[in-house]
Amino acid sequence: MIPIGERTLEADAIEEVCDILKGGGIAALPTETVYGLAADALNPQAVAKIFEAKGRPQDNPLIVHIAALSMLKELAAEVPPDAYALAERFWPGPLTMVLPKSARIPDATSAGLPTVGIRMPSHPVIRAVIERSGLPLAAPSANRSGSPSTTTAQHCIDDLSGRVDAIVISSDCTVGLESTIVSLAGGRPRLLRPGGVTLEELEEVLGPVELDAAVLGRADPQSRASAPGMKYRHYAPKAQVRLLLGSSQQYRAYLEAHAAPGAAALCFHGEEIGLPVPAAALGTPERPQEMAQGLFCALRDFDEKGVQTVYAHCPSPEGLGLALYNRLIRAAAFDIVKL
Ligand code: TXA
Ligand code: MG
Repeated sequence: MIPIGERTLEADAIEEVCDILKGGGIAALPTETVYGLAADALNPQAVAKIFEAKGRPQDNPLIVHIAALSMLKELAAEVPPDAYALAERFWPGPLTMVLPKSARIPDATSAGLPTVGIRMPSHPVIRAVIERSGLPLAAPSANRSGSPSTTTAQHCIDDLSGRVDAIVISSDCTVGLESTIVSLAGGRPRLLRPGGVTLEELEEVLGPVELDAAVLGRADPQSRASAPGMKYRHYAPKAQVRLLLGSSQQYRAYLEAHAAPGAAALCFHGEEIGLPVPAAALGTPERPQEMAQGLFCALRDFDEKGVQTVYAHCPSPEGLGLALYNRLIRAAAFDIVKL
């Protein structure tokens, strides 16, 4: 385990992580979205260790993280003008583009797909590691497969301690949800997973963007168009989650009728006052960013407290709310009640 504080970013520890990765090892690193579990994207043996450590299904491809546009040209077979326009506006940041892959990307990384997801993160730790090692880094979220992604060093340690070569300890992730994924690999641009860059922002650059069925519903297991990861049980705490759609008043009335030992509420600030069950209140409808940042922590905290049923008040699926909605319907295994 290698602790690195923000202050000691320049210290030997970054070099040590680079050595681990250059030697074919795996390391958990902070990014601005969630913690990532990184390996050299071009080394199939190293990439295989990620799947092993996470217990990840083999058909689920990895996102490749870069620190410069020159890397994009090496890893994608084609870089359309739309990709440069998106990079200009949103990179470094929480946006992944799916593009036709170049021959340099091994099947282990793309899970045999002809495409590759590429992202340029903004967090200084992962950027420093990519720049100093010179390696493109394959990195899924640093959690055990199926569990909520990790947004704090402690949650990363809880899930992966003893399973990886290093865990870099840093401050909490600021976005808190995984990156937006847009496919530019053919036809109209297509949103595969909503995240910190919103659909509305993408459309300002690209014009109309198609919504993959997995964004608002279940992914079709037969479909090769969606992000394969969207078809798995996902972001799920041990507690059962039920998503409630309706006004604050309807939400409160439902909780009053369903209060029971082991129940808890996940809601916006203000809505928790006077609720008959313990609550995690995060952000407001006007400022959903705080809910995004705290969502995965809250889901993990419920489990630590032994909560059995979480009643989550559903955010409206616009702007960043679309990403929250997408994660919550999966955490709830599609148990959604319209009030
Ligand atoms: O913010 C993030 O994206 C974080 C950090 C670490 O960068 N990474 C992340 O990776 O969330 P992961 O593996 O947990 O989720 C990646 C998703 C999966 O659903 C996967 O199926 C999809 O991206 N994906 C990756 N490559 C793809 C491709 N070529 N085509 C379609 N979907 C792809
Ligand atoms: Mg993940």
